[in-house]
Amino acid sequence: MASPFAVLTAQEAAALIHNGQNIGFSGFTAAGAAKAIPLALAGRAEREHQAGRPFQVGVLTGASTGHSLDGALAKAKAISFRTPYQSDPGLRAQINAGTVRFVDMHLSMLPQMVRYGSLGPLHWAVVEACDITAGGGIVLSTSVGASPTFLNRADKILIELNRRHAPNLLGMHDIFEPEDPPTRRELPIYTARDRVGSPIVVVPPSKIAGVVLTDLDDECEGFGERNAITNQIGCNVSNFLVSEIHAGRLPEDFLPLQSGVGDIANSVLAALGENPEMPAFEMYTEVVQDSVISLLEAERCLFASTCALTLSPQTSKRFAENLEFFRPRMILRPQEITNHPELVRRLGVISMNTAIEIDIFGNVNSTHVLGRQMMNGIGGSGDFTRNAYMSIFSCPSTQKGGKISTIVPLVSHTDHSEHSVQIVVTEHGVADLRGRDPHERAQLLINNCAHPDYREQLFMYLHLAKKGHTPQSLSLSLAMHRSFENIGDMRNLNWSDWNHPESQ
Ligand code: COA
Repeated sequence: MASPFAVLTAQEAAALIHNGQNIGFSGFTAAGAAKAIPLALAGRAEREHQAGRPFQVGVLTGASTGHSLDGALAKAKAISFRTPYQSDPGLRAQINAGTVRFVDMHLSMLPQMVRYGSLGPLHWAVVEACDITAGGGIVLSTSVGASPTFLNRADKILIELNRRHAPNLLGMHDIFEPEDPPTRRELPIYTARDRVGSPIVVVPPSKIAGVVLTDLDDECEGFGERNAITNQIGCNVSNFLVSEIHAGRLPEDFLPLQSGVGDIANSVLAALGENPEMPAFEMYTEVVQDSVISLLEAERCLFASTCALTLSPQTSKRFAENLEFFRPRMILRPQEITNHPELVRRLGVISMNTAIEIDIFGNVNSTHVLGRQMMNGIGGSGDFTRNAYMSIFSCPSTQKGGKISTIVPLVSHTDHSEHSVQIVVTEHGVADLRGRDPHERAQLLINNCAHPDYREQLFMYLHLAKKGHTPQSLSLSLAMHRSFENIGDMRNLNWSDWNHPESQ
């Protein structure tokens, strides 16, 4: 059918956007991210810069995106402001160099911050769709993210109509935006499967400035091979969850799972599916990765409510070919709903996220290497962890060939406090911190989770720390981090070298 909207090239669409404007792009991970228009915008920025003119925009998205969006715009030095999450190496470097202002934000809060106006005006929504009706009904593609809010709030809209996604994704989405206070009501979702909204986003057709026709794959990369460490972490998580069922602390038919992004999360989920004692489960999560597709096919996962389908190219193809199998088993929701504290608490979600480092009292750093260097952002981990029935963090006990211990005396940056973190898992074992005071937590974390190379060193820290409810030494608590900065290794720290005023 001929489009009733102006059909533009990506370059024509990019030419409508002005220096200094704010854009809400679709994309929650690379799934469903706008591709052609940001790539053309990056080209335009490069040409403007060559001509000596400034050209930068503010970039809002659901979460991270693909290389045509964050990657290309960062390379063109076209981003002035970025929120709420990213994972692009080039953009990360600019954020850490201080040339891009990055606001790291709980993902559930982004849409309401846009609606409340706290992030400034939103000039454009640039959103990928798999179909569009003459009346302005938009069928989103492989993620929902914050697109409904961007579409509703932006002054003008550009659509990338991507024929690579089958139009029969119609019906997979459940679009619902809550009212704002004081008229907000409870969210009427009582199980992971409940539908409360519309399959499409409807916008006034007059807001649509143009449609760009594309035929592009999502830029999701595959996952790393599972290895002995990630396998062991996965086994430890699944054995722990089974033991919780046996102990009567989890219901026999289990509770919905949330799982973070990345190789470790992918491996943990695969291990859960392989454990014959684990009951088949449901997911109430923000990202479905490859492992969930296999678990759905094997009926180890019975249902997945998610915000994005972050699938490798091969799995994506399998998903599209068997869409009718997956349709009754999945819902794609906005991030404001997938990550909503009210729903995470009500449904009793078991959250499983990955940490950069964890201190011996249970505080977690998910974002900053050595307290300074932003990795990706907090993402949804805070939304889920703070409100979960049971919050789990896992990570390998060491990084960088053993030179970094992920179990440290004090985290160099805090994203999740000891009050929200309940279970810690490494390849060495599990520390169940529930009902434990700081002294007991330290014993459990060092004995069960720290790498053997670091246990004695961590116990020595406890011994040297000033006594209190939480034993701590203000001069020594970051000595392991400082050792890594100075000599590139946290191991074999001689505490006495650090335990005098000059070392402070
Ligand atoms: N010190 C230095 N580097 C560290 C580190 C530490 N303590 N911990 C991890 N890293 C580095 C790794 O070495 C690796 O570097 P590389 O890319 O150069 O190999 C990189 O961080 C990723 O770590 P990896 O062990 O491969 O795990 P991952 O891919 O699962 O990522 C996080 C781990 C924490 C970075 C990632 O899960 C994240 O960004 N989490 C925050 C957001 C979140 O939880 N989202 C999910 C909510 S639903």
